[in-house]
Amino acid sequence: MEANNLEKSKKHMNLPDSVKIFDTTLRDGEQAPGVALTVDEKIQIAQKLDNLGVNTIEFGFPAVSVGERESARLINDLGLNANLCGLARVLKNDIDALLDCDLSYVHTFIGTSSLHRDFKLKMSKEEVIDKAVTAIEYAKDHGITVEFSAEDSTRTEEDYLIEVYKAAESAGADLINVPDTVGVLVPTTAKLLISKLKNELKVPISIHFHNDFGLAVANSLMGIEAGAEQAHVTVNGIGERGGNASLEELVVTLKIAYGIDLDIDTTQLFNLSEYVSRITGIKMPPTKPIVGENAFAHESGIHVHGVLENAATYEPIPPELVGHKRKIALGKHTGASALKAKLEEYDIELNQDQFDSVYHQVKGLGDKGKCITDADLKAIAVTVLGKA
Ligand code: KIV
Ligand code: ZN
Repeated sequence: MEANNLEKSKKHMNLPDSVKIFDTTLRDGEQAPGVALTVDEKIQIAQKLDNLGVNTIEFGFPAVSVGERESARLINDLGLNANLCGLARVLKNDIDALLDCDLSYVHTFIGTSSLHRDFKLKMSKEEVIDKAVTAIEYAKDHGITVEFSAEDSTRTEEDYLIEVYKAAESAGADLINVPDTVGVLVPTTAKLLISKLKNELKVPISIHFHNDFGLAVANSLMGIEAGAEQAHVTVNGIGERGGNASLEELVVTLKIAYGIDLDIDTTQLFNLSEYVSRITGIKMPPTKPIVGENAFAHESGIHVHGVLENAATYEPIPPELVGHKRKIALGKHTGASALKAKLEEYDIELNQDQFDSVYHQVKGLGDKGKCITDADLKAIAVTVLGKA
């Protein structure tokens, strides 16, 4: 078959073979207002993330509480395949808290924008660099992997940001992470920023994009196109304010739209999303891509007819790829093929008159603004059969 326009344009995209997935559901995700995970819940989620196949799990922030340190030790004892990472400010005490838990991967950060330097840290540009370098050297002296973040990097003066990252690289940082702390990037600026940093630095670049404008996944894709080797994500995109780039959206887009197959078992995505939603109490809207209740639901007669003939007509992603299910919804847009398929699903056999009666009742309820559940349909069919 001749390649379609999308396939043809992919040839002009600069695509990497792979991208590392750094999951921060248990750290940045837990910073979502109202979310507080117990040690046991953290262990369960860490195990599920490991089964899924993410490369690194940021489990939390060891310096903040006894519970965080207990989680660190217990998750460490699971012997996961994924790297286990903890957050630390560029402070000796924070790094010591992580070393006390026998962790061998620190994600250390300091704010670099003038807003952070002047109002939060009250430090000069030089002091910020000095603090970062001292902490990175201290962690490297203890033989651990260091990922360094310039917090609020996307509102930091560009020349200074490059200076900070170069100092971090010289101090021994193994990865440079670029946090869009308040989600101000758009795809064009995301691509430009990461391209510039790629030209200036030799260490692998990681991206950590927030979702204040709903662009975290789009920006992450642009960062990856510009050469970022790792992306930070959270399950369901949970996190501060509008959240972070969503794990399921990024991984599935990379797989389907970009053709980059990560070593992630995507069939576990729906279950993981439901689990995290239940544990955190953060419900997903029905329209949430990939994992929302309606992500694979069809109502209009035209769509259902197409899907029943060939699912790809209206499904760019097969539901089974992410462990979800196709749903045929009934309402005023329902067509005869959808109703027939639904009745077959429940082994309900109707003659033509009975079928027409059910069909008109479904449409009638839909016109009154009602949503017809499967239970409603069965009740209507039973009544019609009873009358026969
Ligand atoms: O968004 C952010 O800036 C962070 C930092 C801790 C890296 O989460
Ligand atoms: Zn963040």
